[in-house]
Amino acid sequence: MSADALFDDAWTPSLWKEHNAGQQPTWSSEDDLSRAINELSGLPPLVFAGEARTLTEQLALAQDGKAFVLIAGDCAESFAAFSADSIRDKLRVILQMSVVLAYGGGVPTVKIARMAGQFAKPRSSDTEERDKVVLPSFRGDAVNDFAFTADARVADPQRMIKAYNQSAATLNLMRALSKGGFAALGRVHAWTQESIAASAEGRRYDALANEIERALRFMSACGIDPDLELALREVDVWTAHESLLLDYEEALTRRDSISGDWYDCSAHLLWIGERTRHLNGAHVNFLSGVKNPIGIKLGPTTTPEEVSALCERLNPARQPGRIMLFSRMGANEVSKTLPPLLRATAGLPVTWACDPMHANTFQHESGYKTRRFDDIMQELHGFFDACIAADVWPGGVHVELTGENVTECLGGTEAVMGSDLEQRYETMCDPRLNARQSLDLAFETAELLRR
Ligand code: PEP
Ligand code: CO
Repeated sequence: MSADALFDDAWTPSLWKEHNAGQQPTWSSEDDLSRAINELSGLPPLVFAGEARTLTEQLALAQDGKAFVLIAGDCAESFAAFSADSIRDKLRVILQMSVVLAYGGGVPTVKIARMAGQFAKPRSSDTEERDKVVLPSFRGDAVNDFAFTADARVADPQRMIKAYNQSAATLNLMRALSKGGFAALGRVHAWTQESIAASAEGRRYDALANEIERALRFMSACGIDPDLELALREVDVWTAHESLLLDYEEALTRRDSISGDWYDCSAHLLWIGERTRHLNGAHVNFLSGVKNPIGIKLGPTTTPEEVSALCERLNPARQPGRIMLFSRMGANEVSKTLPPLLRATAGLPVTWACDPMHANTFQHESGYKTRRFDDIMQELHGFFDACIAADVWPGGVHVELTGENVTECLGGTEAVMGSDLEQRYETMCDPRLNARQSLDLAFETAELLRR
């Protein structure tokens, strides 16, 4: 099938089924699956097409060097860790990071949360073995349960309905907080968590918040009331997740009544993972037909030909803001592997961003899967260096974090040591930055932006 055929009227939300779909669960039964899909297909969309179009416009600014994109949130959201506090705390960190970046970088921060839909995970193996017992791998709460028992690991399609409901509730609170006053710039001090207020990062943030408050007071003195300025009172926090579980994504894909175009209404931005970005695979086919902005993860084995072919397939009309490329090369690889890809996309409408997390994961001697903060920063530096050398705007950063005081990644200004990992290791999947490490990263990134 030609690239053109994929983008014309022949595309339908179920066309992906004619292509090879990696990383899909073996569901408990076809009947269970159809029941769940029928129900999901009748449920309201989580986001609206017009919002996805607005985000595309904002990403087009990032592509032009007029904005910086922050994508952040859990590696995998969980049914168990679902609470108003955890949603609010993640949002606080994202708001804090975004003011640090905007203040330091001098350009607006486009805020995208890996929240309200990040429930499905790709796995390196279909099965997991412990003490000679082999069970299906955990594929995210939208598929099966984390517990290591045969019952828990059954892929139950009803879990997609639960993921939808939790996404709806999460998004509802996110919208309330971002539009209802919580995110107003005048509350910049109130976003600091008590647990980090006294830390080095907390104090550094406090100093910046003081400067912002002084600027707001100056505006008031000039007769501008910050409470009446929409841009200072409300923020947009968009949602994104990996478009992995194609049964779920298809069921939430709707035709927009205004434009007639298809949108995947499960989130504003959807990305394709490193393991499923095959040009002729089901995931690329699916996202080629929806008009949302699309992310593509690119690991160290990516070839220049692959990147340009993916950009052509997913954005034949060359629409600005449609494609974000997430470089996830590894701290030691980025300076070698990224430059040829940057050259391959010269002249193409793409926004380059760095995911400094996913190629820096390793197993600590204690058995925990972790990442070193220093490696994460080294990859970010390498990304910025490569972009500057290629005359490409370093358009964003994509990180895994939580608002809690977890001990999952090593290092940071107040260093988490190997022996600390067991204290609060709570992730169901990859290790996340805690609130302090996230702020640390934002300050360093702001300095890189200032260069
Ligand atoms: C992720 O973002 O959680 C992920 C699995 O990333 P990648 O596809 O880059 O490995
Ligand atoms: Co991850």
